[in-house]
Amino acid sequence: MKNFVSVHDVNNIDALVQKALAYKANPFTDKSLGTNKRIGCLFLNPSMRTRLSTQIAAQNLGMEPIIFNVGSEGWMLEFEEEAIMSGTTVEHVKDAAPVFGKYFDILAIRTFPSLKNRDDDYSELYIKQFIKYAGIPVVSLESATLHPLQSLTDIITIREALLNSPSGIVSKPKIVLTWAPHVKPLPQCVANSFSQWVNAWGKAEFVITHPEDYELSEEFTKGAIITHNQNEALKDADFVYVKNWSTYNDYGKIYESDPKWMLTNKKLELTNNAKVMHCLPVRRNVELSDEILDGPNSIVTQEASNRVWAAQAVLAEILRSNG
Ligand code: CP
Repeated sequence: MKNFVSVHDVNNIDALVQKALAYKANPFTDKSLGTNKRIGCLFLNPSMRTRLSTQIAAQNLGMEPIIFNVGSEGWMLEFEEEAIMSGTTVEHVKDAAPVFGKYFDILAIRTFPSLKNRDDDYSELYIKQFIKYAGIPVVSLESATLHPLQSLTDIITIREALLNSPSGIVSKPKIVLTWAPHVKPLPQCVANSFSQWVNAWGKAEFVITHPEDYELSEEFTKGAIITHNQNEALKDADFVYVKNWSTYNDYGKIYESDPKWMLTNKKLELTNNAKVMHCLPVRRNVELSDEILDGPNSIVTQEASNRVWAAQAVLAEILRSNG
């Protein structure tokens, strides 16, 4: 594995999931793999889980993680080629990224979309420029359109829940991704990425449900069943993944914050006693009800804790592939 920015960087999803679960059972088996190596984690945007889990994962492998909050503490970076830098940007990524490439062995970056211009966001210019100019492996800590470490975690968590299921392994689980209300427009990253990974994994019946006008890009959803009828979607579901996203077509808007889309225990009765997932952070009683989050079906804490093992499996594979 050279970089980790989407599911396309993974040869074998099941093998990576197994590796992550092996690290969960024995966190320090490869504690010398990253000795004398450094990972630079650049945050252009806020984070809690991604930042901490990546640091812990790196330390479990013997690496030194260095966090740099570029968005609040660094020089404002320019990403456009041939830019005339007479505005607010102070340093071009072309100059900064090679320096990071000398300081670190792996570079990890979080860079959110603007939600103003779809073509710009979906071009993934920022992460591509880091890959182009850093000269070392690049890991996405969530980019403009995707959140691959979250999605790998989600598959790990689903796999783990299936292995631990008292009713035995469900051979082809039904996974439902449902839109949820929010107070402000959020990126499509988590929903895009979850769709991309579940489709590539190919081990589930996958249904996406959302209000009209909230279609995601077919680039990621192709292969899923898509319906605007949430109750129909939830029927017999084994896993319900709850997430808000803003509009893709009329880009970056919210039209519908209808509370009826919020998952409740009543709606959960339609499912096969489904496990409920959310990447966190979550707006309680807007996106997801207290009764679900505090109830027995929620696996959101387990999901967030698995972020460590996903990151550890990815960093280990990059370390092994790149010497
Ligand atoms: N799920 C997730 O990426 O959480 P953070 O934004 O806190 O890193």
